[in-house]
Amino acid sequence: MKQHRGSWGSNMGFILAAIGSAVGLGNIWGFPYKMGKSGGFTFLVVYAILAIFVGFVVMATELAMGRKTGKGIVGAFCDLSQKFKWVGWLGVIAPFFLLCFYVVLGGYCLEYVVINITQLFGAEALSGSASFGAMVTNPIRCMVYTFIFTAINFFIVRGGIQGGIEKFSTVGMPALFVMLVVVIIRSLTLPNAIEGVKFMFVPGYAVSAGFISESPSFINILSTAGGQMFFSLSLAMGIMITYGSYLGKQENLLKNSGIIVFADTFVAIMAGLAVIPAAVSNGIANGVALSDIQLGGPNLLFVTLQDVFVSMGTMGSLFGVVFYVLVLIAAISSVISLIEVIATMFMDDAHAKNKEGNRQKIVMGICLAFFAVSLVVAADGLGSNGVWVPFQSMLTTVAADGTVSMPVFVDCWLDFLDCLAEGIAMPLGALLMSLMVGFELGPETILPELHTGTKFRMDKFYIICIKYVVPVAMVFILLGQLSSFFG
Ligand code: PHE
Ligand code: NA
Repeated sequence: MKQHRGSWGSNMGFILAAIGSAVGLGNIWGFPYKMGKSGGFTFLVVYAILAIFVGFVVMATELAMGRKTGKGIVGAFCDLSQKFKWVGWLGVIAPFFLLCFYVVLGGYCLEYVVINITQLFGAEALSGSASFGAMVTNPIRCMVYTFIFTAINFFIVRGGIQGGIEKFSTVGMPALFVMLVVVIIRSLTLPNAIEGVKFMFVPGYAVSAGFISESPSFINILSTAGGQMFFSLSLAMGIMITYGSYLGKQENLLKNSGIIVFADTFVAIMAGLAVIPAAVSNGIANGVALSDIQLGGPNLLFVTLQDVFVSMGTMGSLFGVVFYVLVLIAAISSVISLIEVIATMFMDDAHAKNKEGNRQKIVMGICLAFFAVSLVVAADGLGSNGVWVPFQSMLTTVAADGTVSMPVFVDCWLDFLDCLAEGIAMPLGALLMSLMVGFELGPETILPELHTGTKFRMDKFYIICIKYVVPVAMVFILLGQLSSFFG
């Protein structure tokens, strides 16, 4: 007897869940900063072109692979291919490594919600860097918050596709959007906010105004935009294959892909308008040199922006709560998609053996596994507590003449896991997938899936992109990622 796998309640529910996976920390701390630093509008144009010719095509391919086979990551590759069967495993390893540190960041967001709530009720407000320093150097507290964050995600994924993930996304995504609009209005009405807007959109402004000293080369922009796009759209992690496998046969995959790609990019630009002008305005108000304002990475979120909220007094704490809850929702909706990739794989495996598959136990096992690793990341505190040092010396070799060399140019556990997931597994997985679809199976295998629910045809576009544009772009992105992690 065939076991029932479950499915999305509606196409809208699926779209919100997929957008939820895509919208995450990448939109909030990656995109705005990379855009400003890499030539503002130029970056946006390069990003948009890559999103259409590579991101959209890979997204549609993943959804099609999932729906066609009705299986998650490993099952889908095994069903489709002889030569590339094993690629599915890359798609399990990558989400696992990503989970190991994403939950720690989620824990940080949770801690910041709490910090801002206590300040709202009169606790003394510390500067952003004081709060951040106190947080990362307290391993036990970080582990506790990582645990709470993991538990929240456990309870959602345990509820299943419709009863857990879809339910959370249909409430969470609209809420996130409204909160983002509130924060944007506040950000744009601060004095000198326009400088931040110019940083993002005016080509060359970041250099001419003195935010950064020189603009990156075109090649550099291309690989930065490519890497960012891939991460931001949650591609090559098995997520869209998994989510696609629960989608009804009548749904239009091209349209869905277009909506997801557009929404993720739109939210990334909105996030930029919410955070960059506020950070710049506050920097100027405090006489900080533009080149010293931290506009990217964890510092943006946990130092620069917290300073903005603190400077606004009690109202600021209220905005702080709204903002960190918004980031928290974005982090949760990404983490649940990562867990679901692995959960679906085990559920499918159980079904293949004609067993029911105990979702509760499977999800619990997955959460315990990545939580164990995440404790190390939490204890490391982005390198502040020295947990990375012994491992780093294992990787380091000292030559006879005394020169020290290290194969991986990262300085904490979080960066190391990020290098494995985002730097290697993700671009490699996408490259192999495009070669499999383009050359082993042929685009004809995927095209019929893309034709359902629509009269619209873009076969030539799809064939050219999947066979040539995507592989070339992926080689590029892979090299760019490797050079950023391996010096
Ligand atoms: N897309 C998410 C973001 O922008 C990150 C992510 C990547 C989530 C891959 C799941 C899978 O933050
Ligand atoms: Na994203």
